Order: sequence, then C-alpha cells, then structure tokens
Amino acid sequence: MKRLEMDLTRKVRLLLCLGLLFELGQSQVACKNDKGEEVDWYFLYKLPKSTGDGLSYLYMDESTNGWRESKEKINSPTGSVAKTLTPLFDCYKKKTEGFGYILYNDQPPKGLQPAPASFGHAKGVVMLNKTSGVWLSHSTPQFPSYQSQDFWPSSGTNNAQTFLCVTYAYSEFQNIGVHLKYIHAFPFDSVLPPYFYEELKCVAQRSCYPKTEPWFKIMKLTSLKGHRFKSFAKYTRFGDDLYTGLIVNFAKQDLLVKSWGNMHRPLPSNCSQILPHSVYNIKEVNPHRRGPFLDTVDHSKWCVTTSGDLTCVADMNREVSQMSRGGGAVCTEDITVGAAFHAAVRKSQPCDLPQLPDTNGEL
Ligand SMILES: *[C@@H]1O[C@H](CO)[C@@H](O)[C@H](O)[C@H]1NC(C)=O
Ligand SMILES: *[C@@H]1O[C@H](CO)[C@@H](O)[C@H](O)[C@H]1NC(C)=O
Repeated sequence: MKRLEMDLTRKVRLLLCLGLLFELGQSQVACKNDKGEEVDWYFLYKLPKSTGDGLSYLYMDESTNGWRESKEKINSPTGSVAKTLTPLFDCYKKKTEGFGYILYNDQPPKGLQPAPASFGHAKGVVMLNKTSGVWLSHSTPQFPSYQSQDFWPSSGTNNAQTFLCVTYAYSEFQNIGVHLKYIHAFPFDSVLPPYFYEELKCVAQRSCYPKTEPWFKIMKLTSLKGHRFKSFAKYTRFGDDLYTGLIVNFAKQDLLVKSWGNMHRPLPSNCSQILPHSVYNIKEVNPHRRGPFLDTVDHSKWCVTTSGDLTCVADMNREVSQMSRGGGAVCTEDITVGAAFHAAVRKSQPCDLPQLPDTNGEL
C-alpha cells in the first residue's frame, strides 16, 4: 500500500514536470513585454523623431507603475511589438493549425487597395487561437507591413503613435467581432479557421456592418486575467464626434483628447452646455519627460479624464469628416494608467480661442 502511494507521487511529480516543460516550450497567443513574457495588457507610446531617432518608446503594464523607457526600438525583433506578433510571423511562414488573425487599417500597407471612406477610420491587429488571443489597437498607418517579418513601416517613424495590447480568452472575441462590425473595420489581410466566431469571419470578409439603430455599441470586455476594459464603437451613420458625441457621456469629469494636429477641419475644444462635461484638445504632451512635442508630430489618439479615472486609446481624430466615419476606443478605469496619461498633458486648447487655421491634411 505504502509503496503504491510512493509510486503514484513520483508519477504525479513526473507528469507535473512534463506539463511545465510543455508550457515553457509553447507560449500562448498573448501580449508580450520586451523580455517576451506574457502580459495581460500594455500601453506603448512611440516617441516622435523630433525627440530622438523616432523608434524609441515608452512602455507601461501592470508591473511598471506608469511609463518606463524601453531599451528596445519599436522595429526591433527583440522588442515588445515583435515578440507579441511572433505567432503572426510564424503563420506567414507556415500556416498554423487552429490560429487566425485579422489585420485592419484604413491606411493599409503600400501597394494594397486603399480603404473606401465608408469603412472605419481604425487600425488594429487581432490574432487568436481557441485558447486565447490578442487585440492590439494602434494609430500607425501601413502597420504591420504586408506578410513580412519586417513589420515596421518607415512612414511610421516621424510621428508619435500609441498602442494598446490586451490579452483575452477566445470567448471574448465574439464581442470584439461585434465591435469591429460597428466600426466597420477594413481588413487588409486575414486568415480564420472556419469554426471561429461568425462575427469575426464576417468582418474578415468585409461584409458586415450594423443595419439598424442605435449606430453605436458600448461593451464591457474582460481580459484573460480578469482586468476590465470598456469598448466604444460608432458606425458611419452615428454622424457625430467620438469624444463629444459618445465617450464624454460616460465620463465623470472633463475629457482631454489627444488627436492628430494636422487636419483639414479640426473640431475645436467644446465647452457647450449640451455636453455633460467639456472636451478639450491636447496640443502638447511631455510623457515621462521625454518631450515635449506638439500634436503636429503626434499621430496618437487617446483621451483621459481630468482625474484619470477613464483612459482610452482610440481610432479617431477630432475632425469634421471623421464625424461620419466608423471608429472607436478601448478604455480602462485603471488610475495608475490614467495618472500616467494625465501627467503627460502639457498644453490644451481653451474653449474661448478661435478655431486654429487649416493645415496640411492628415498623413
Ligand atoms: C493555442 O496556442 C497555444 C500555444 O501554442 C497552445 O498551447 C494551445 O494548445 C493552443 N490552443 C488551441 C486550441 O489550438
Ligand atoms: C459640441 O459637441 C456637440 C456634440 O458633438 C455638438 O453638437 C456641438 O455642435 C459642439 N459644439 C461646438 C462649439 O463644437
């Protein structure tokens, strides 16, 4: 009897060891930090060329307590973005059984069909298997390069850009599919196994968009490790600005919005009485004292409340033509994240100023 027990313990131990080895050898489809370790979420702020080489970035996850300067470069094969995209690169080389992805961008890589304006002004990477997956929202035109491990487009270097990566269980991608339908995302490359969610397949085929009111969708999303996020999506027919028309209604304070500074018809800061809170345009930032830089070299799109209790990484600029485009945002109520973004704000546009003169038009 005693002997049998010992045998069993040994067998159990051996199995545990094998299990561990198995896990170490195979990493999940998940957001990865610079060390290649799986993380539940991260924010990344790629700095503009005006502050250095245009490839350096700030990084923040649960463990960093605010922004950290990465030693890596955004285009480096040993940086967080490359490590996160590894399952995608593996799939380019040899189709991976049970793995799928959708790459969407209103400004697809050079040489591909451009997105008609009926599609959303939105950029992102979705990749997953039946266990888990990643949704990486970002602001970079032509990213990631088409079917190439050399994923960083040279056009992305001059201006600042933001990225939000969240790891979700497979089951959450049904909701993410619904979000992508509302923003009417424009995929330029995709592979999806036939047994994945209908909502995702429909987006990949560019064949779905909302057909009835309301023309927006707000959802609660829970990350793999149980962190809560909120997504805001608006369809073309919503016909209003993402920030003053949608997000500010769910904010408890004034909203500071960072969007692209080179636009044909920028929407001014808005302190209208019809809004529950005011919405201010951020004109200059200094994240982690790595600036300052102006919104004319900062292509990132994000917003934060004045108390930092709501922070979003978004798809859209505050511009007249984008009132009638699809697009959205992914938000967190994490106050450490909010404090990091709020501390970056250096100058915003007051409401009593006349509208700024027209500039060059969007990149
Ligand atoms: C998802 O990928 C991970 C890592 O390769 C693997 O361990 C897991 O078995 C995969 N799940 C499915 C259902 O394919
Ligand atoms: C402020 O925002 C609301 C909602 O988008 C809009 O109806 C109104 O025209 C805006 N006012 C100004 C001055 O931009």
